[in-house]
Amino acid sequence: MSTPQHSRVFERSNRVHELSAEERVVYDQLDPARIPQHVSIIMDGNGRWAGKRALKRFLGHQQGAESVQFVVETASRINLPWLTLYAFSLENNLRRPKTEVSFLMKLLRNYLVSNVKRMNDNNIRMAYIGRTHELPPDVQETMRWAEDQTAKNTGTTLTLALNYGSRSEIVDSARTLVHRMIAEAHQRGISLEDMLAAEGVDDAIKNRIDEPQVGSALYTAHMPDPDLVVRTSGEQRISNFLLWQIAYAEIFVTDRLWPDFRGLHLLEAIADYQCRERRFGGLGESTDEDLSGVLPTEAELARG
Ligand code: FPP
Repeated sequence: MSTPQHSRVFERSNRVHELSAEERVVYDQLDPARIPQHVSIIMDGNGRWAGKRALKRFLGHQQGAESVQFVVETASRINLPWLTLYAFSLENNLRRPKTEVSFLMKLLRNYLVSNVKRMNDNNIRMAYIGRTHELPPDVQETMRWAEDQTAKNTGTTLTLALNYGSRSEIVDSARTLVHRMIAEAHQRGISLEDMLAAEGVDDAIKNRIDEPQVGSALYTAHMPDPDLVVRTSGEQRISNFLLWQIAYAEIFVTDRLWPDFRGLHLLEAIADYQCRERRFGGLGESTDEDLSGVLPTEAELARG
């Protein structure tokens, strides 16, 4: 859910006139006041896209990189504040052939170098989540460069999840919280044990490890949770993507393969999202049932 801590100064310049005619038809059916704050996408199907055309897998990835640019530019035209793309998972890094991993790294560098100008023209800010410090140094350098070059932009933030895994993110968050506790004890000039004992160990730990604290140590602490998760290529899986953050997100799965996905399809996913009733674990607005008469009264309960 969006909180004030997540709201950025967001420039609401109207660029809807830059949508294609096809996109405009779908956009005009949307309620602009209910555009999601954050859409995250599991981009899948590059390999199948290439296979269907008897092409090598890397050509599917190359085409997939084109889709990234089309989609983020449409996102920026409709003032979508946050778009997060699952570009390279920890599992991709560990389980794909080295040649494919090194092609993906080269593609990422190329993508950043060739698209920074377009990012700036579209007021898009680049960011990353994941264990990015484990990526090759030249890739990290280009990532930092693209981030710096686009840092002043105030439109859509495009976050690429790179060498990302949600379980490892939660592990990293737990480790950060322990480090925070140690730093707090050092600052007070006492041992961690003494600091915890002074408050009562259980209370001291509860005060320092709760849902807001875990969230504050995730890579995504600075952004609102996704409202909508899109997955391409028809698989109905989350694949270790933002598990904590998508607790109440709506999920939209399309059979379309990522290299065929365009801004138009993002708008269609948002149109579908706007038809959903979000409940966050509560009851929908249309539910106002009178339960009296269904449940036993206190007197009936007392009678057994
Ligand atoms: C899945 O396709 C997709 C990925 C491995 C990650 C997405 C990568 C890109 C879109 C390309 C580069 C991105 C950027 C930002 C430059 P798959 O190979 O798993 O497809 P398959 O399931 O059909 O084999």
